[in-house]
Amino acid sequence: MTERKDDRLWGGRFEGEPNKQFDAFQRSFAFDRRLLPYEIAVDRAWAKALQPIGIFTAAEVKQTLAALDKIAERARTDSAWLESFGATAEDVHHFVEKALVEELGPLGWKLHTARSRNELVATDFRLFVMDAASQVQRGLEALLNSFLLQAKANLGVPMAGMTHMQHAQPILLSHFLLAHAEAFSRDIARLQHAAASADACPMGSGALAGNSFAIDRNAIARELGFSRITVNSLDAVSDRDFALDYIFALTGIATHLSRLAEDFVIFASQEFSYVILSDEFSTGSSLMPQKKNPDAWELIRGKTGRITGALLGLLTTLKGLPTGYQRDLQEDKEALFAAHDQVADMLAIAGGAVAATKFNTERLKAAASHPALLATEAADYLVRKGVPFRQAHDIIGKVLREAEKQNISWTAMPLDGLKKISPAFDSDFAKSLGVDAALAAKKVPGGTGPESVAEAIANLERRLNKKAIKTGAKP
Ligand code: ARG
Repeated sequence: MTERKDDRLWGGRFEGEPNKQFDAFQRSFAFDRRLLPYEIAVDRAWAKALQPIGIFTAAEVKQTLAALDKIAERARTDSAWLESFGATAEDVHHFVEKALVEELGPLGWKLHTARSRNELVATDFRLFVMDAASQVQRGLEALLNSFLLQAKANLGVPMAGMTHMQHAQPILLSHFLLAHAEAFSRDIARLQHAAASADACPMGSGALAGNSFAIDRNAIARELGFSRITVNSLDAVSDRDFALDYIFALTGIATHLSRLAEDFVIFASQEFSYVILSDEFSTGSSLMPQKKNPDAWELIRGKTGRITGALLGLLTTLKGLPTGYQRDLQEDKEALFAAHDQVADMLAIAGGAVAATKFNTERLKAAASHPALLATEAADYLVRKGVPFRQAHDIIGKVLREAEKQNISWTAMPLDGLKKISPAFDSDFAKSLGVDAALAAKKVPGGTGPESVAEAIANLERRLNKKAIKTGAKP
């Protein structure tokens, strides 16, 4: 048969025409054309796999591969041509078949032997996720590098560390920056997990039941850069856990970016003035000439909503689906593509904005030097003199109250006044009460002591250089 009554992929058993609005409604080519490079790669692997099982001759494989290459090239360079399939191609799989038939005649209809779009779409989408995860990982590495450079450049600058948004204890600015870096390093691990979860090839699973032609699944997987094949054909066409894992990783990144954004928005306010926003990543006001607004950070914080929305959307789509491919699954792609694009952009902007930020070291130092931040150090001093901590806490509380009564700074209380409150106070008390002394005491690994922070910087640098924060799988 060299004639077909229509060129739909499934028109044979239909007599009536589809409802026009429904026909447009069910198409996915407008967005799944983004999967075309992966579709072509899978088609190439499939064409080769059809020869050993006697479906294709060597010549047919050659012709099909050449045609696929031509289609890939034309789709890349001739957008009007690709666009011309907009009204007729149902999805990216249908597009390739139509283009193949245009190129090869009836031979183009042979490639779909022994396979289903259900396995194709799962395979294409997995390849996309593996690629996307490694692209986002590069964005994270660039951001980590911005933190590293700032942590090095500002080593030694103290700031007021906060809990509950209240001044708590002095820390190093570099320690604060590295705290963000650590969160983003965890995101890399989550991206790698998502890539590993996508890294299994469904081809050979058929529509649900497997393949009747003894196709070499492992050869196809290897050719496509997968390290394994999926285990169960029915699961393979139903499973979108890899997409969930990827969006979850993106949500983690966005949430961390949003927290970073919030810190910088607050720090840029006149009340804090800890950071000086760069012109490059700020905008002005159309009304108030004096304004420099932290729009880059606000937009990063704002866009996080969409990423979280994408995760919730896919979870909701998947909830309650029966086992097997359901058309609902077509809804998995748009939100993931959009979330990926947004996070890639957000990371690029954040990386640039962190690198371009200037820190107001005078303000940071001044805030860190407030005596209130040293109260815990004073209690620790008493502990070192043998006072149980709870009692030491009470004693310093009394000192603070007494100083308040006398209207003086508690760090300026004379020794005899202190001794009246507790005999444990001694002449070495005053010198234990500086920002530097407080910082130096935190020399535990992971602490904010200068030595620990220098070690943390070296550690991050090692991880970035050695790519101990590994790059994800590339298909
Ligand atoms: N466009 C479809 C999707 O994105 C491809 C799979 C279609 N399969 C089917 N049985 N209709 O999920």
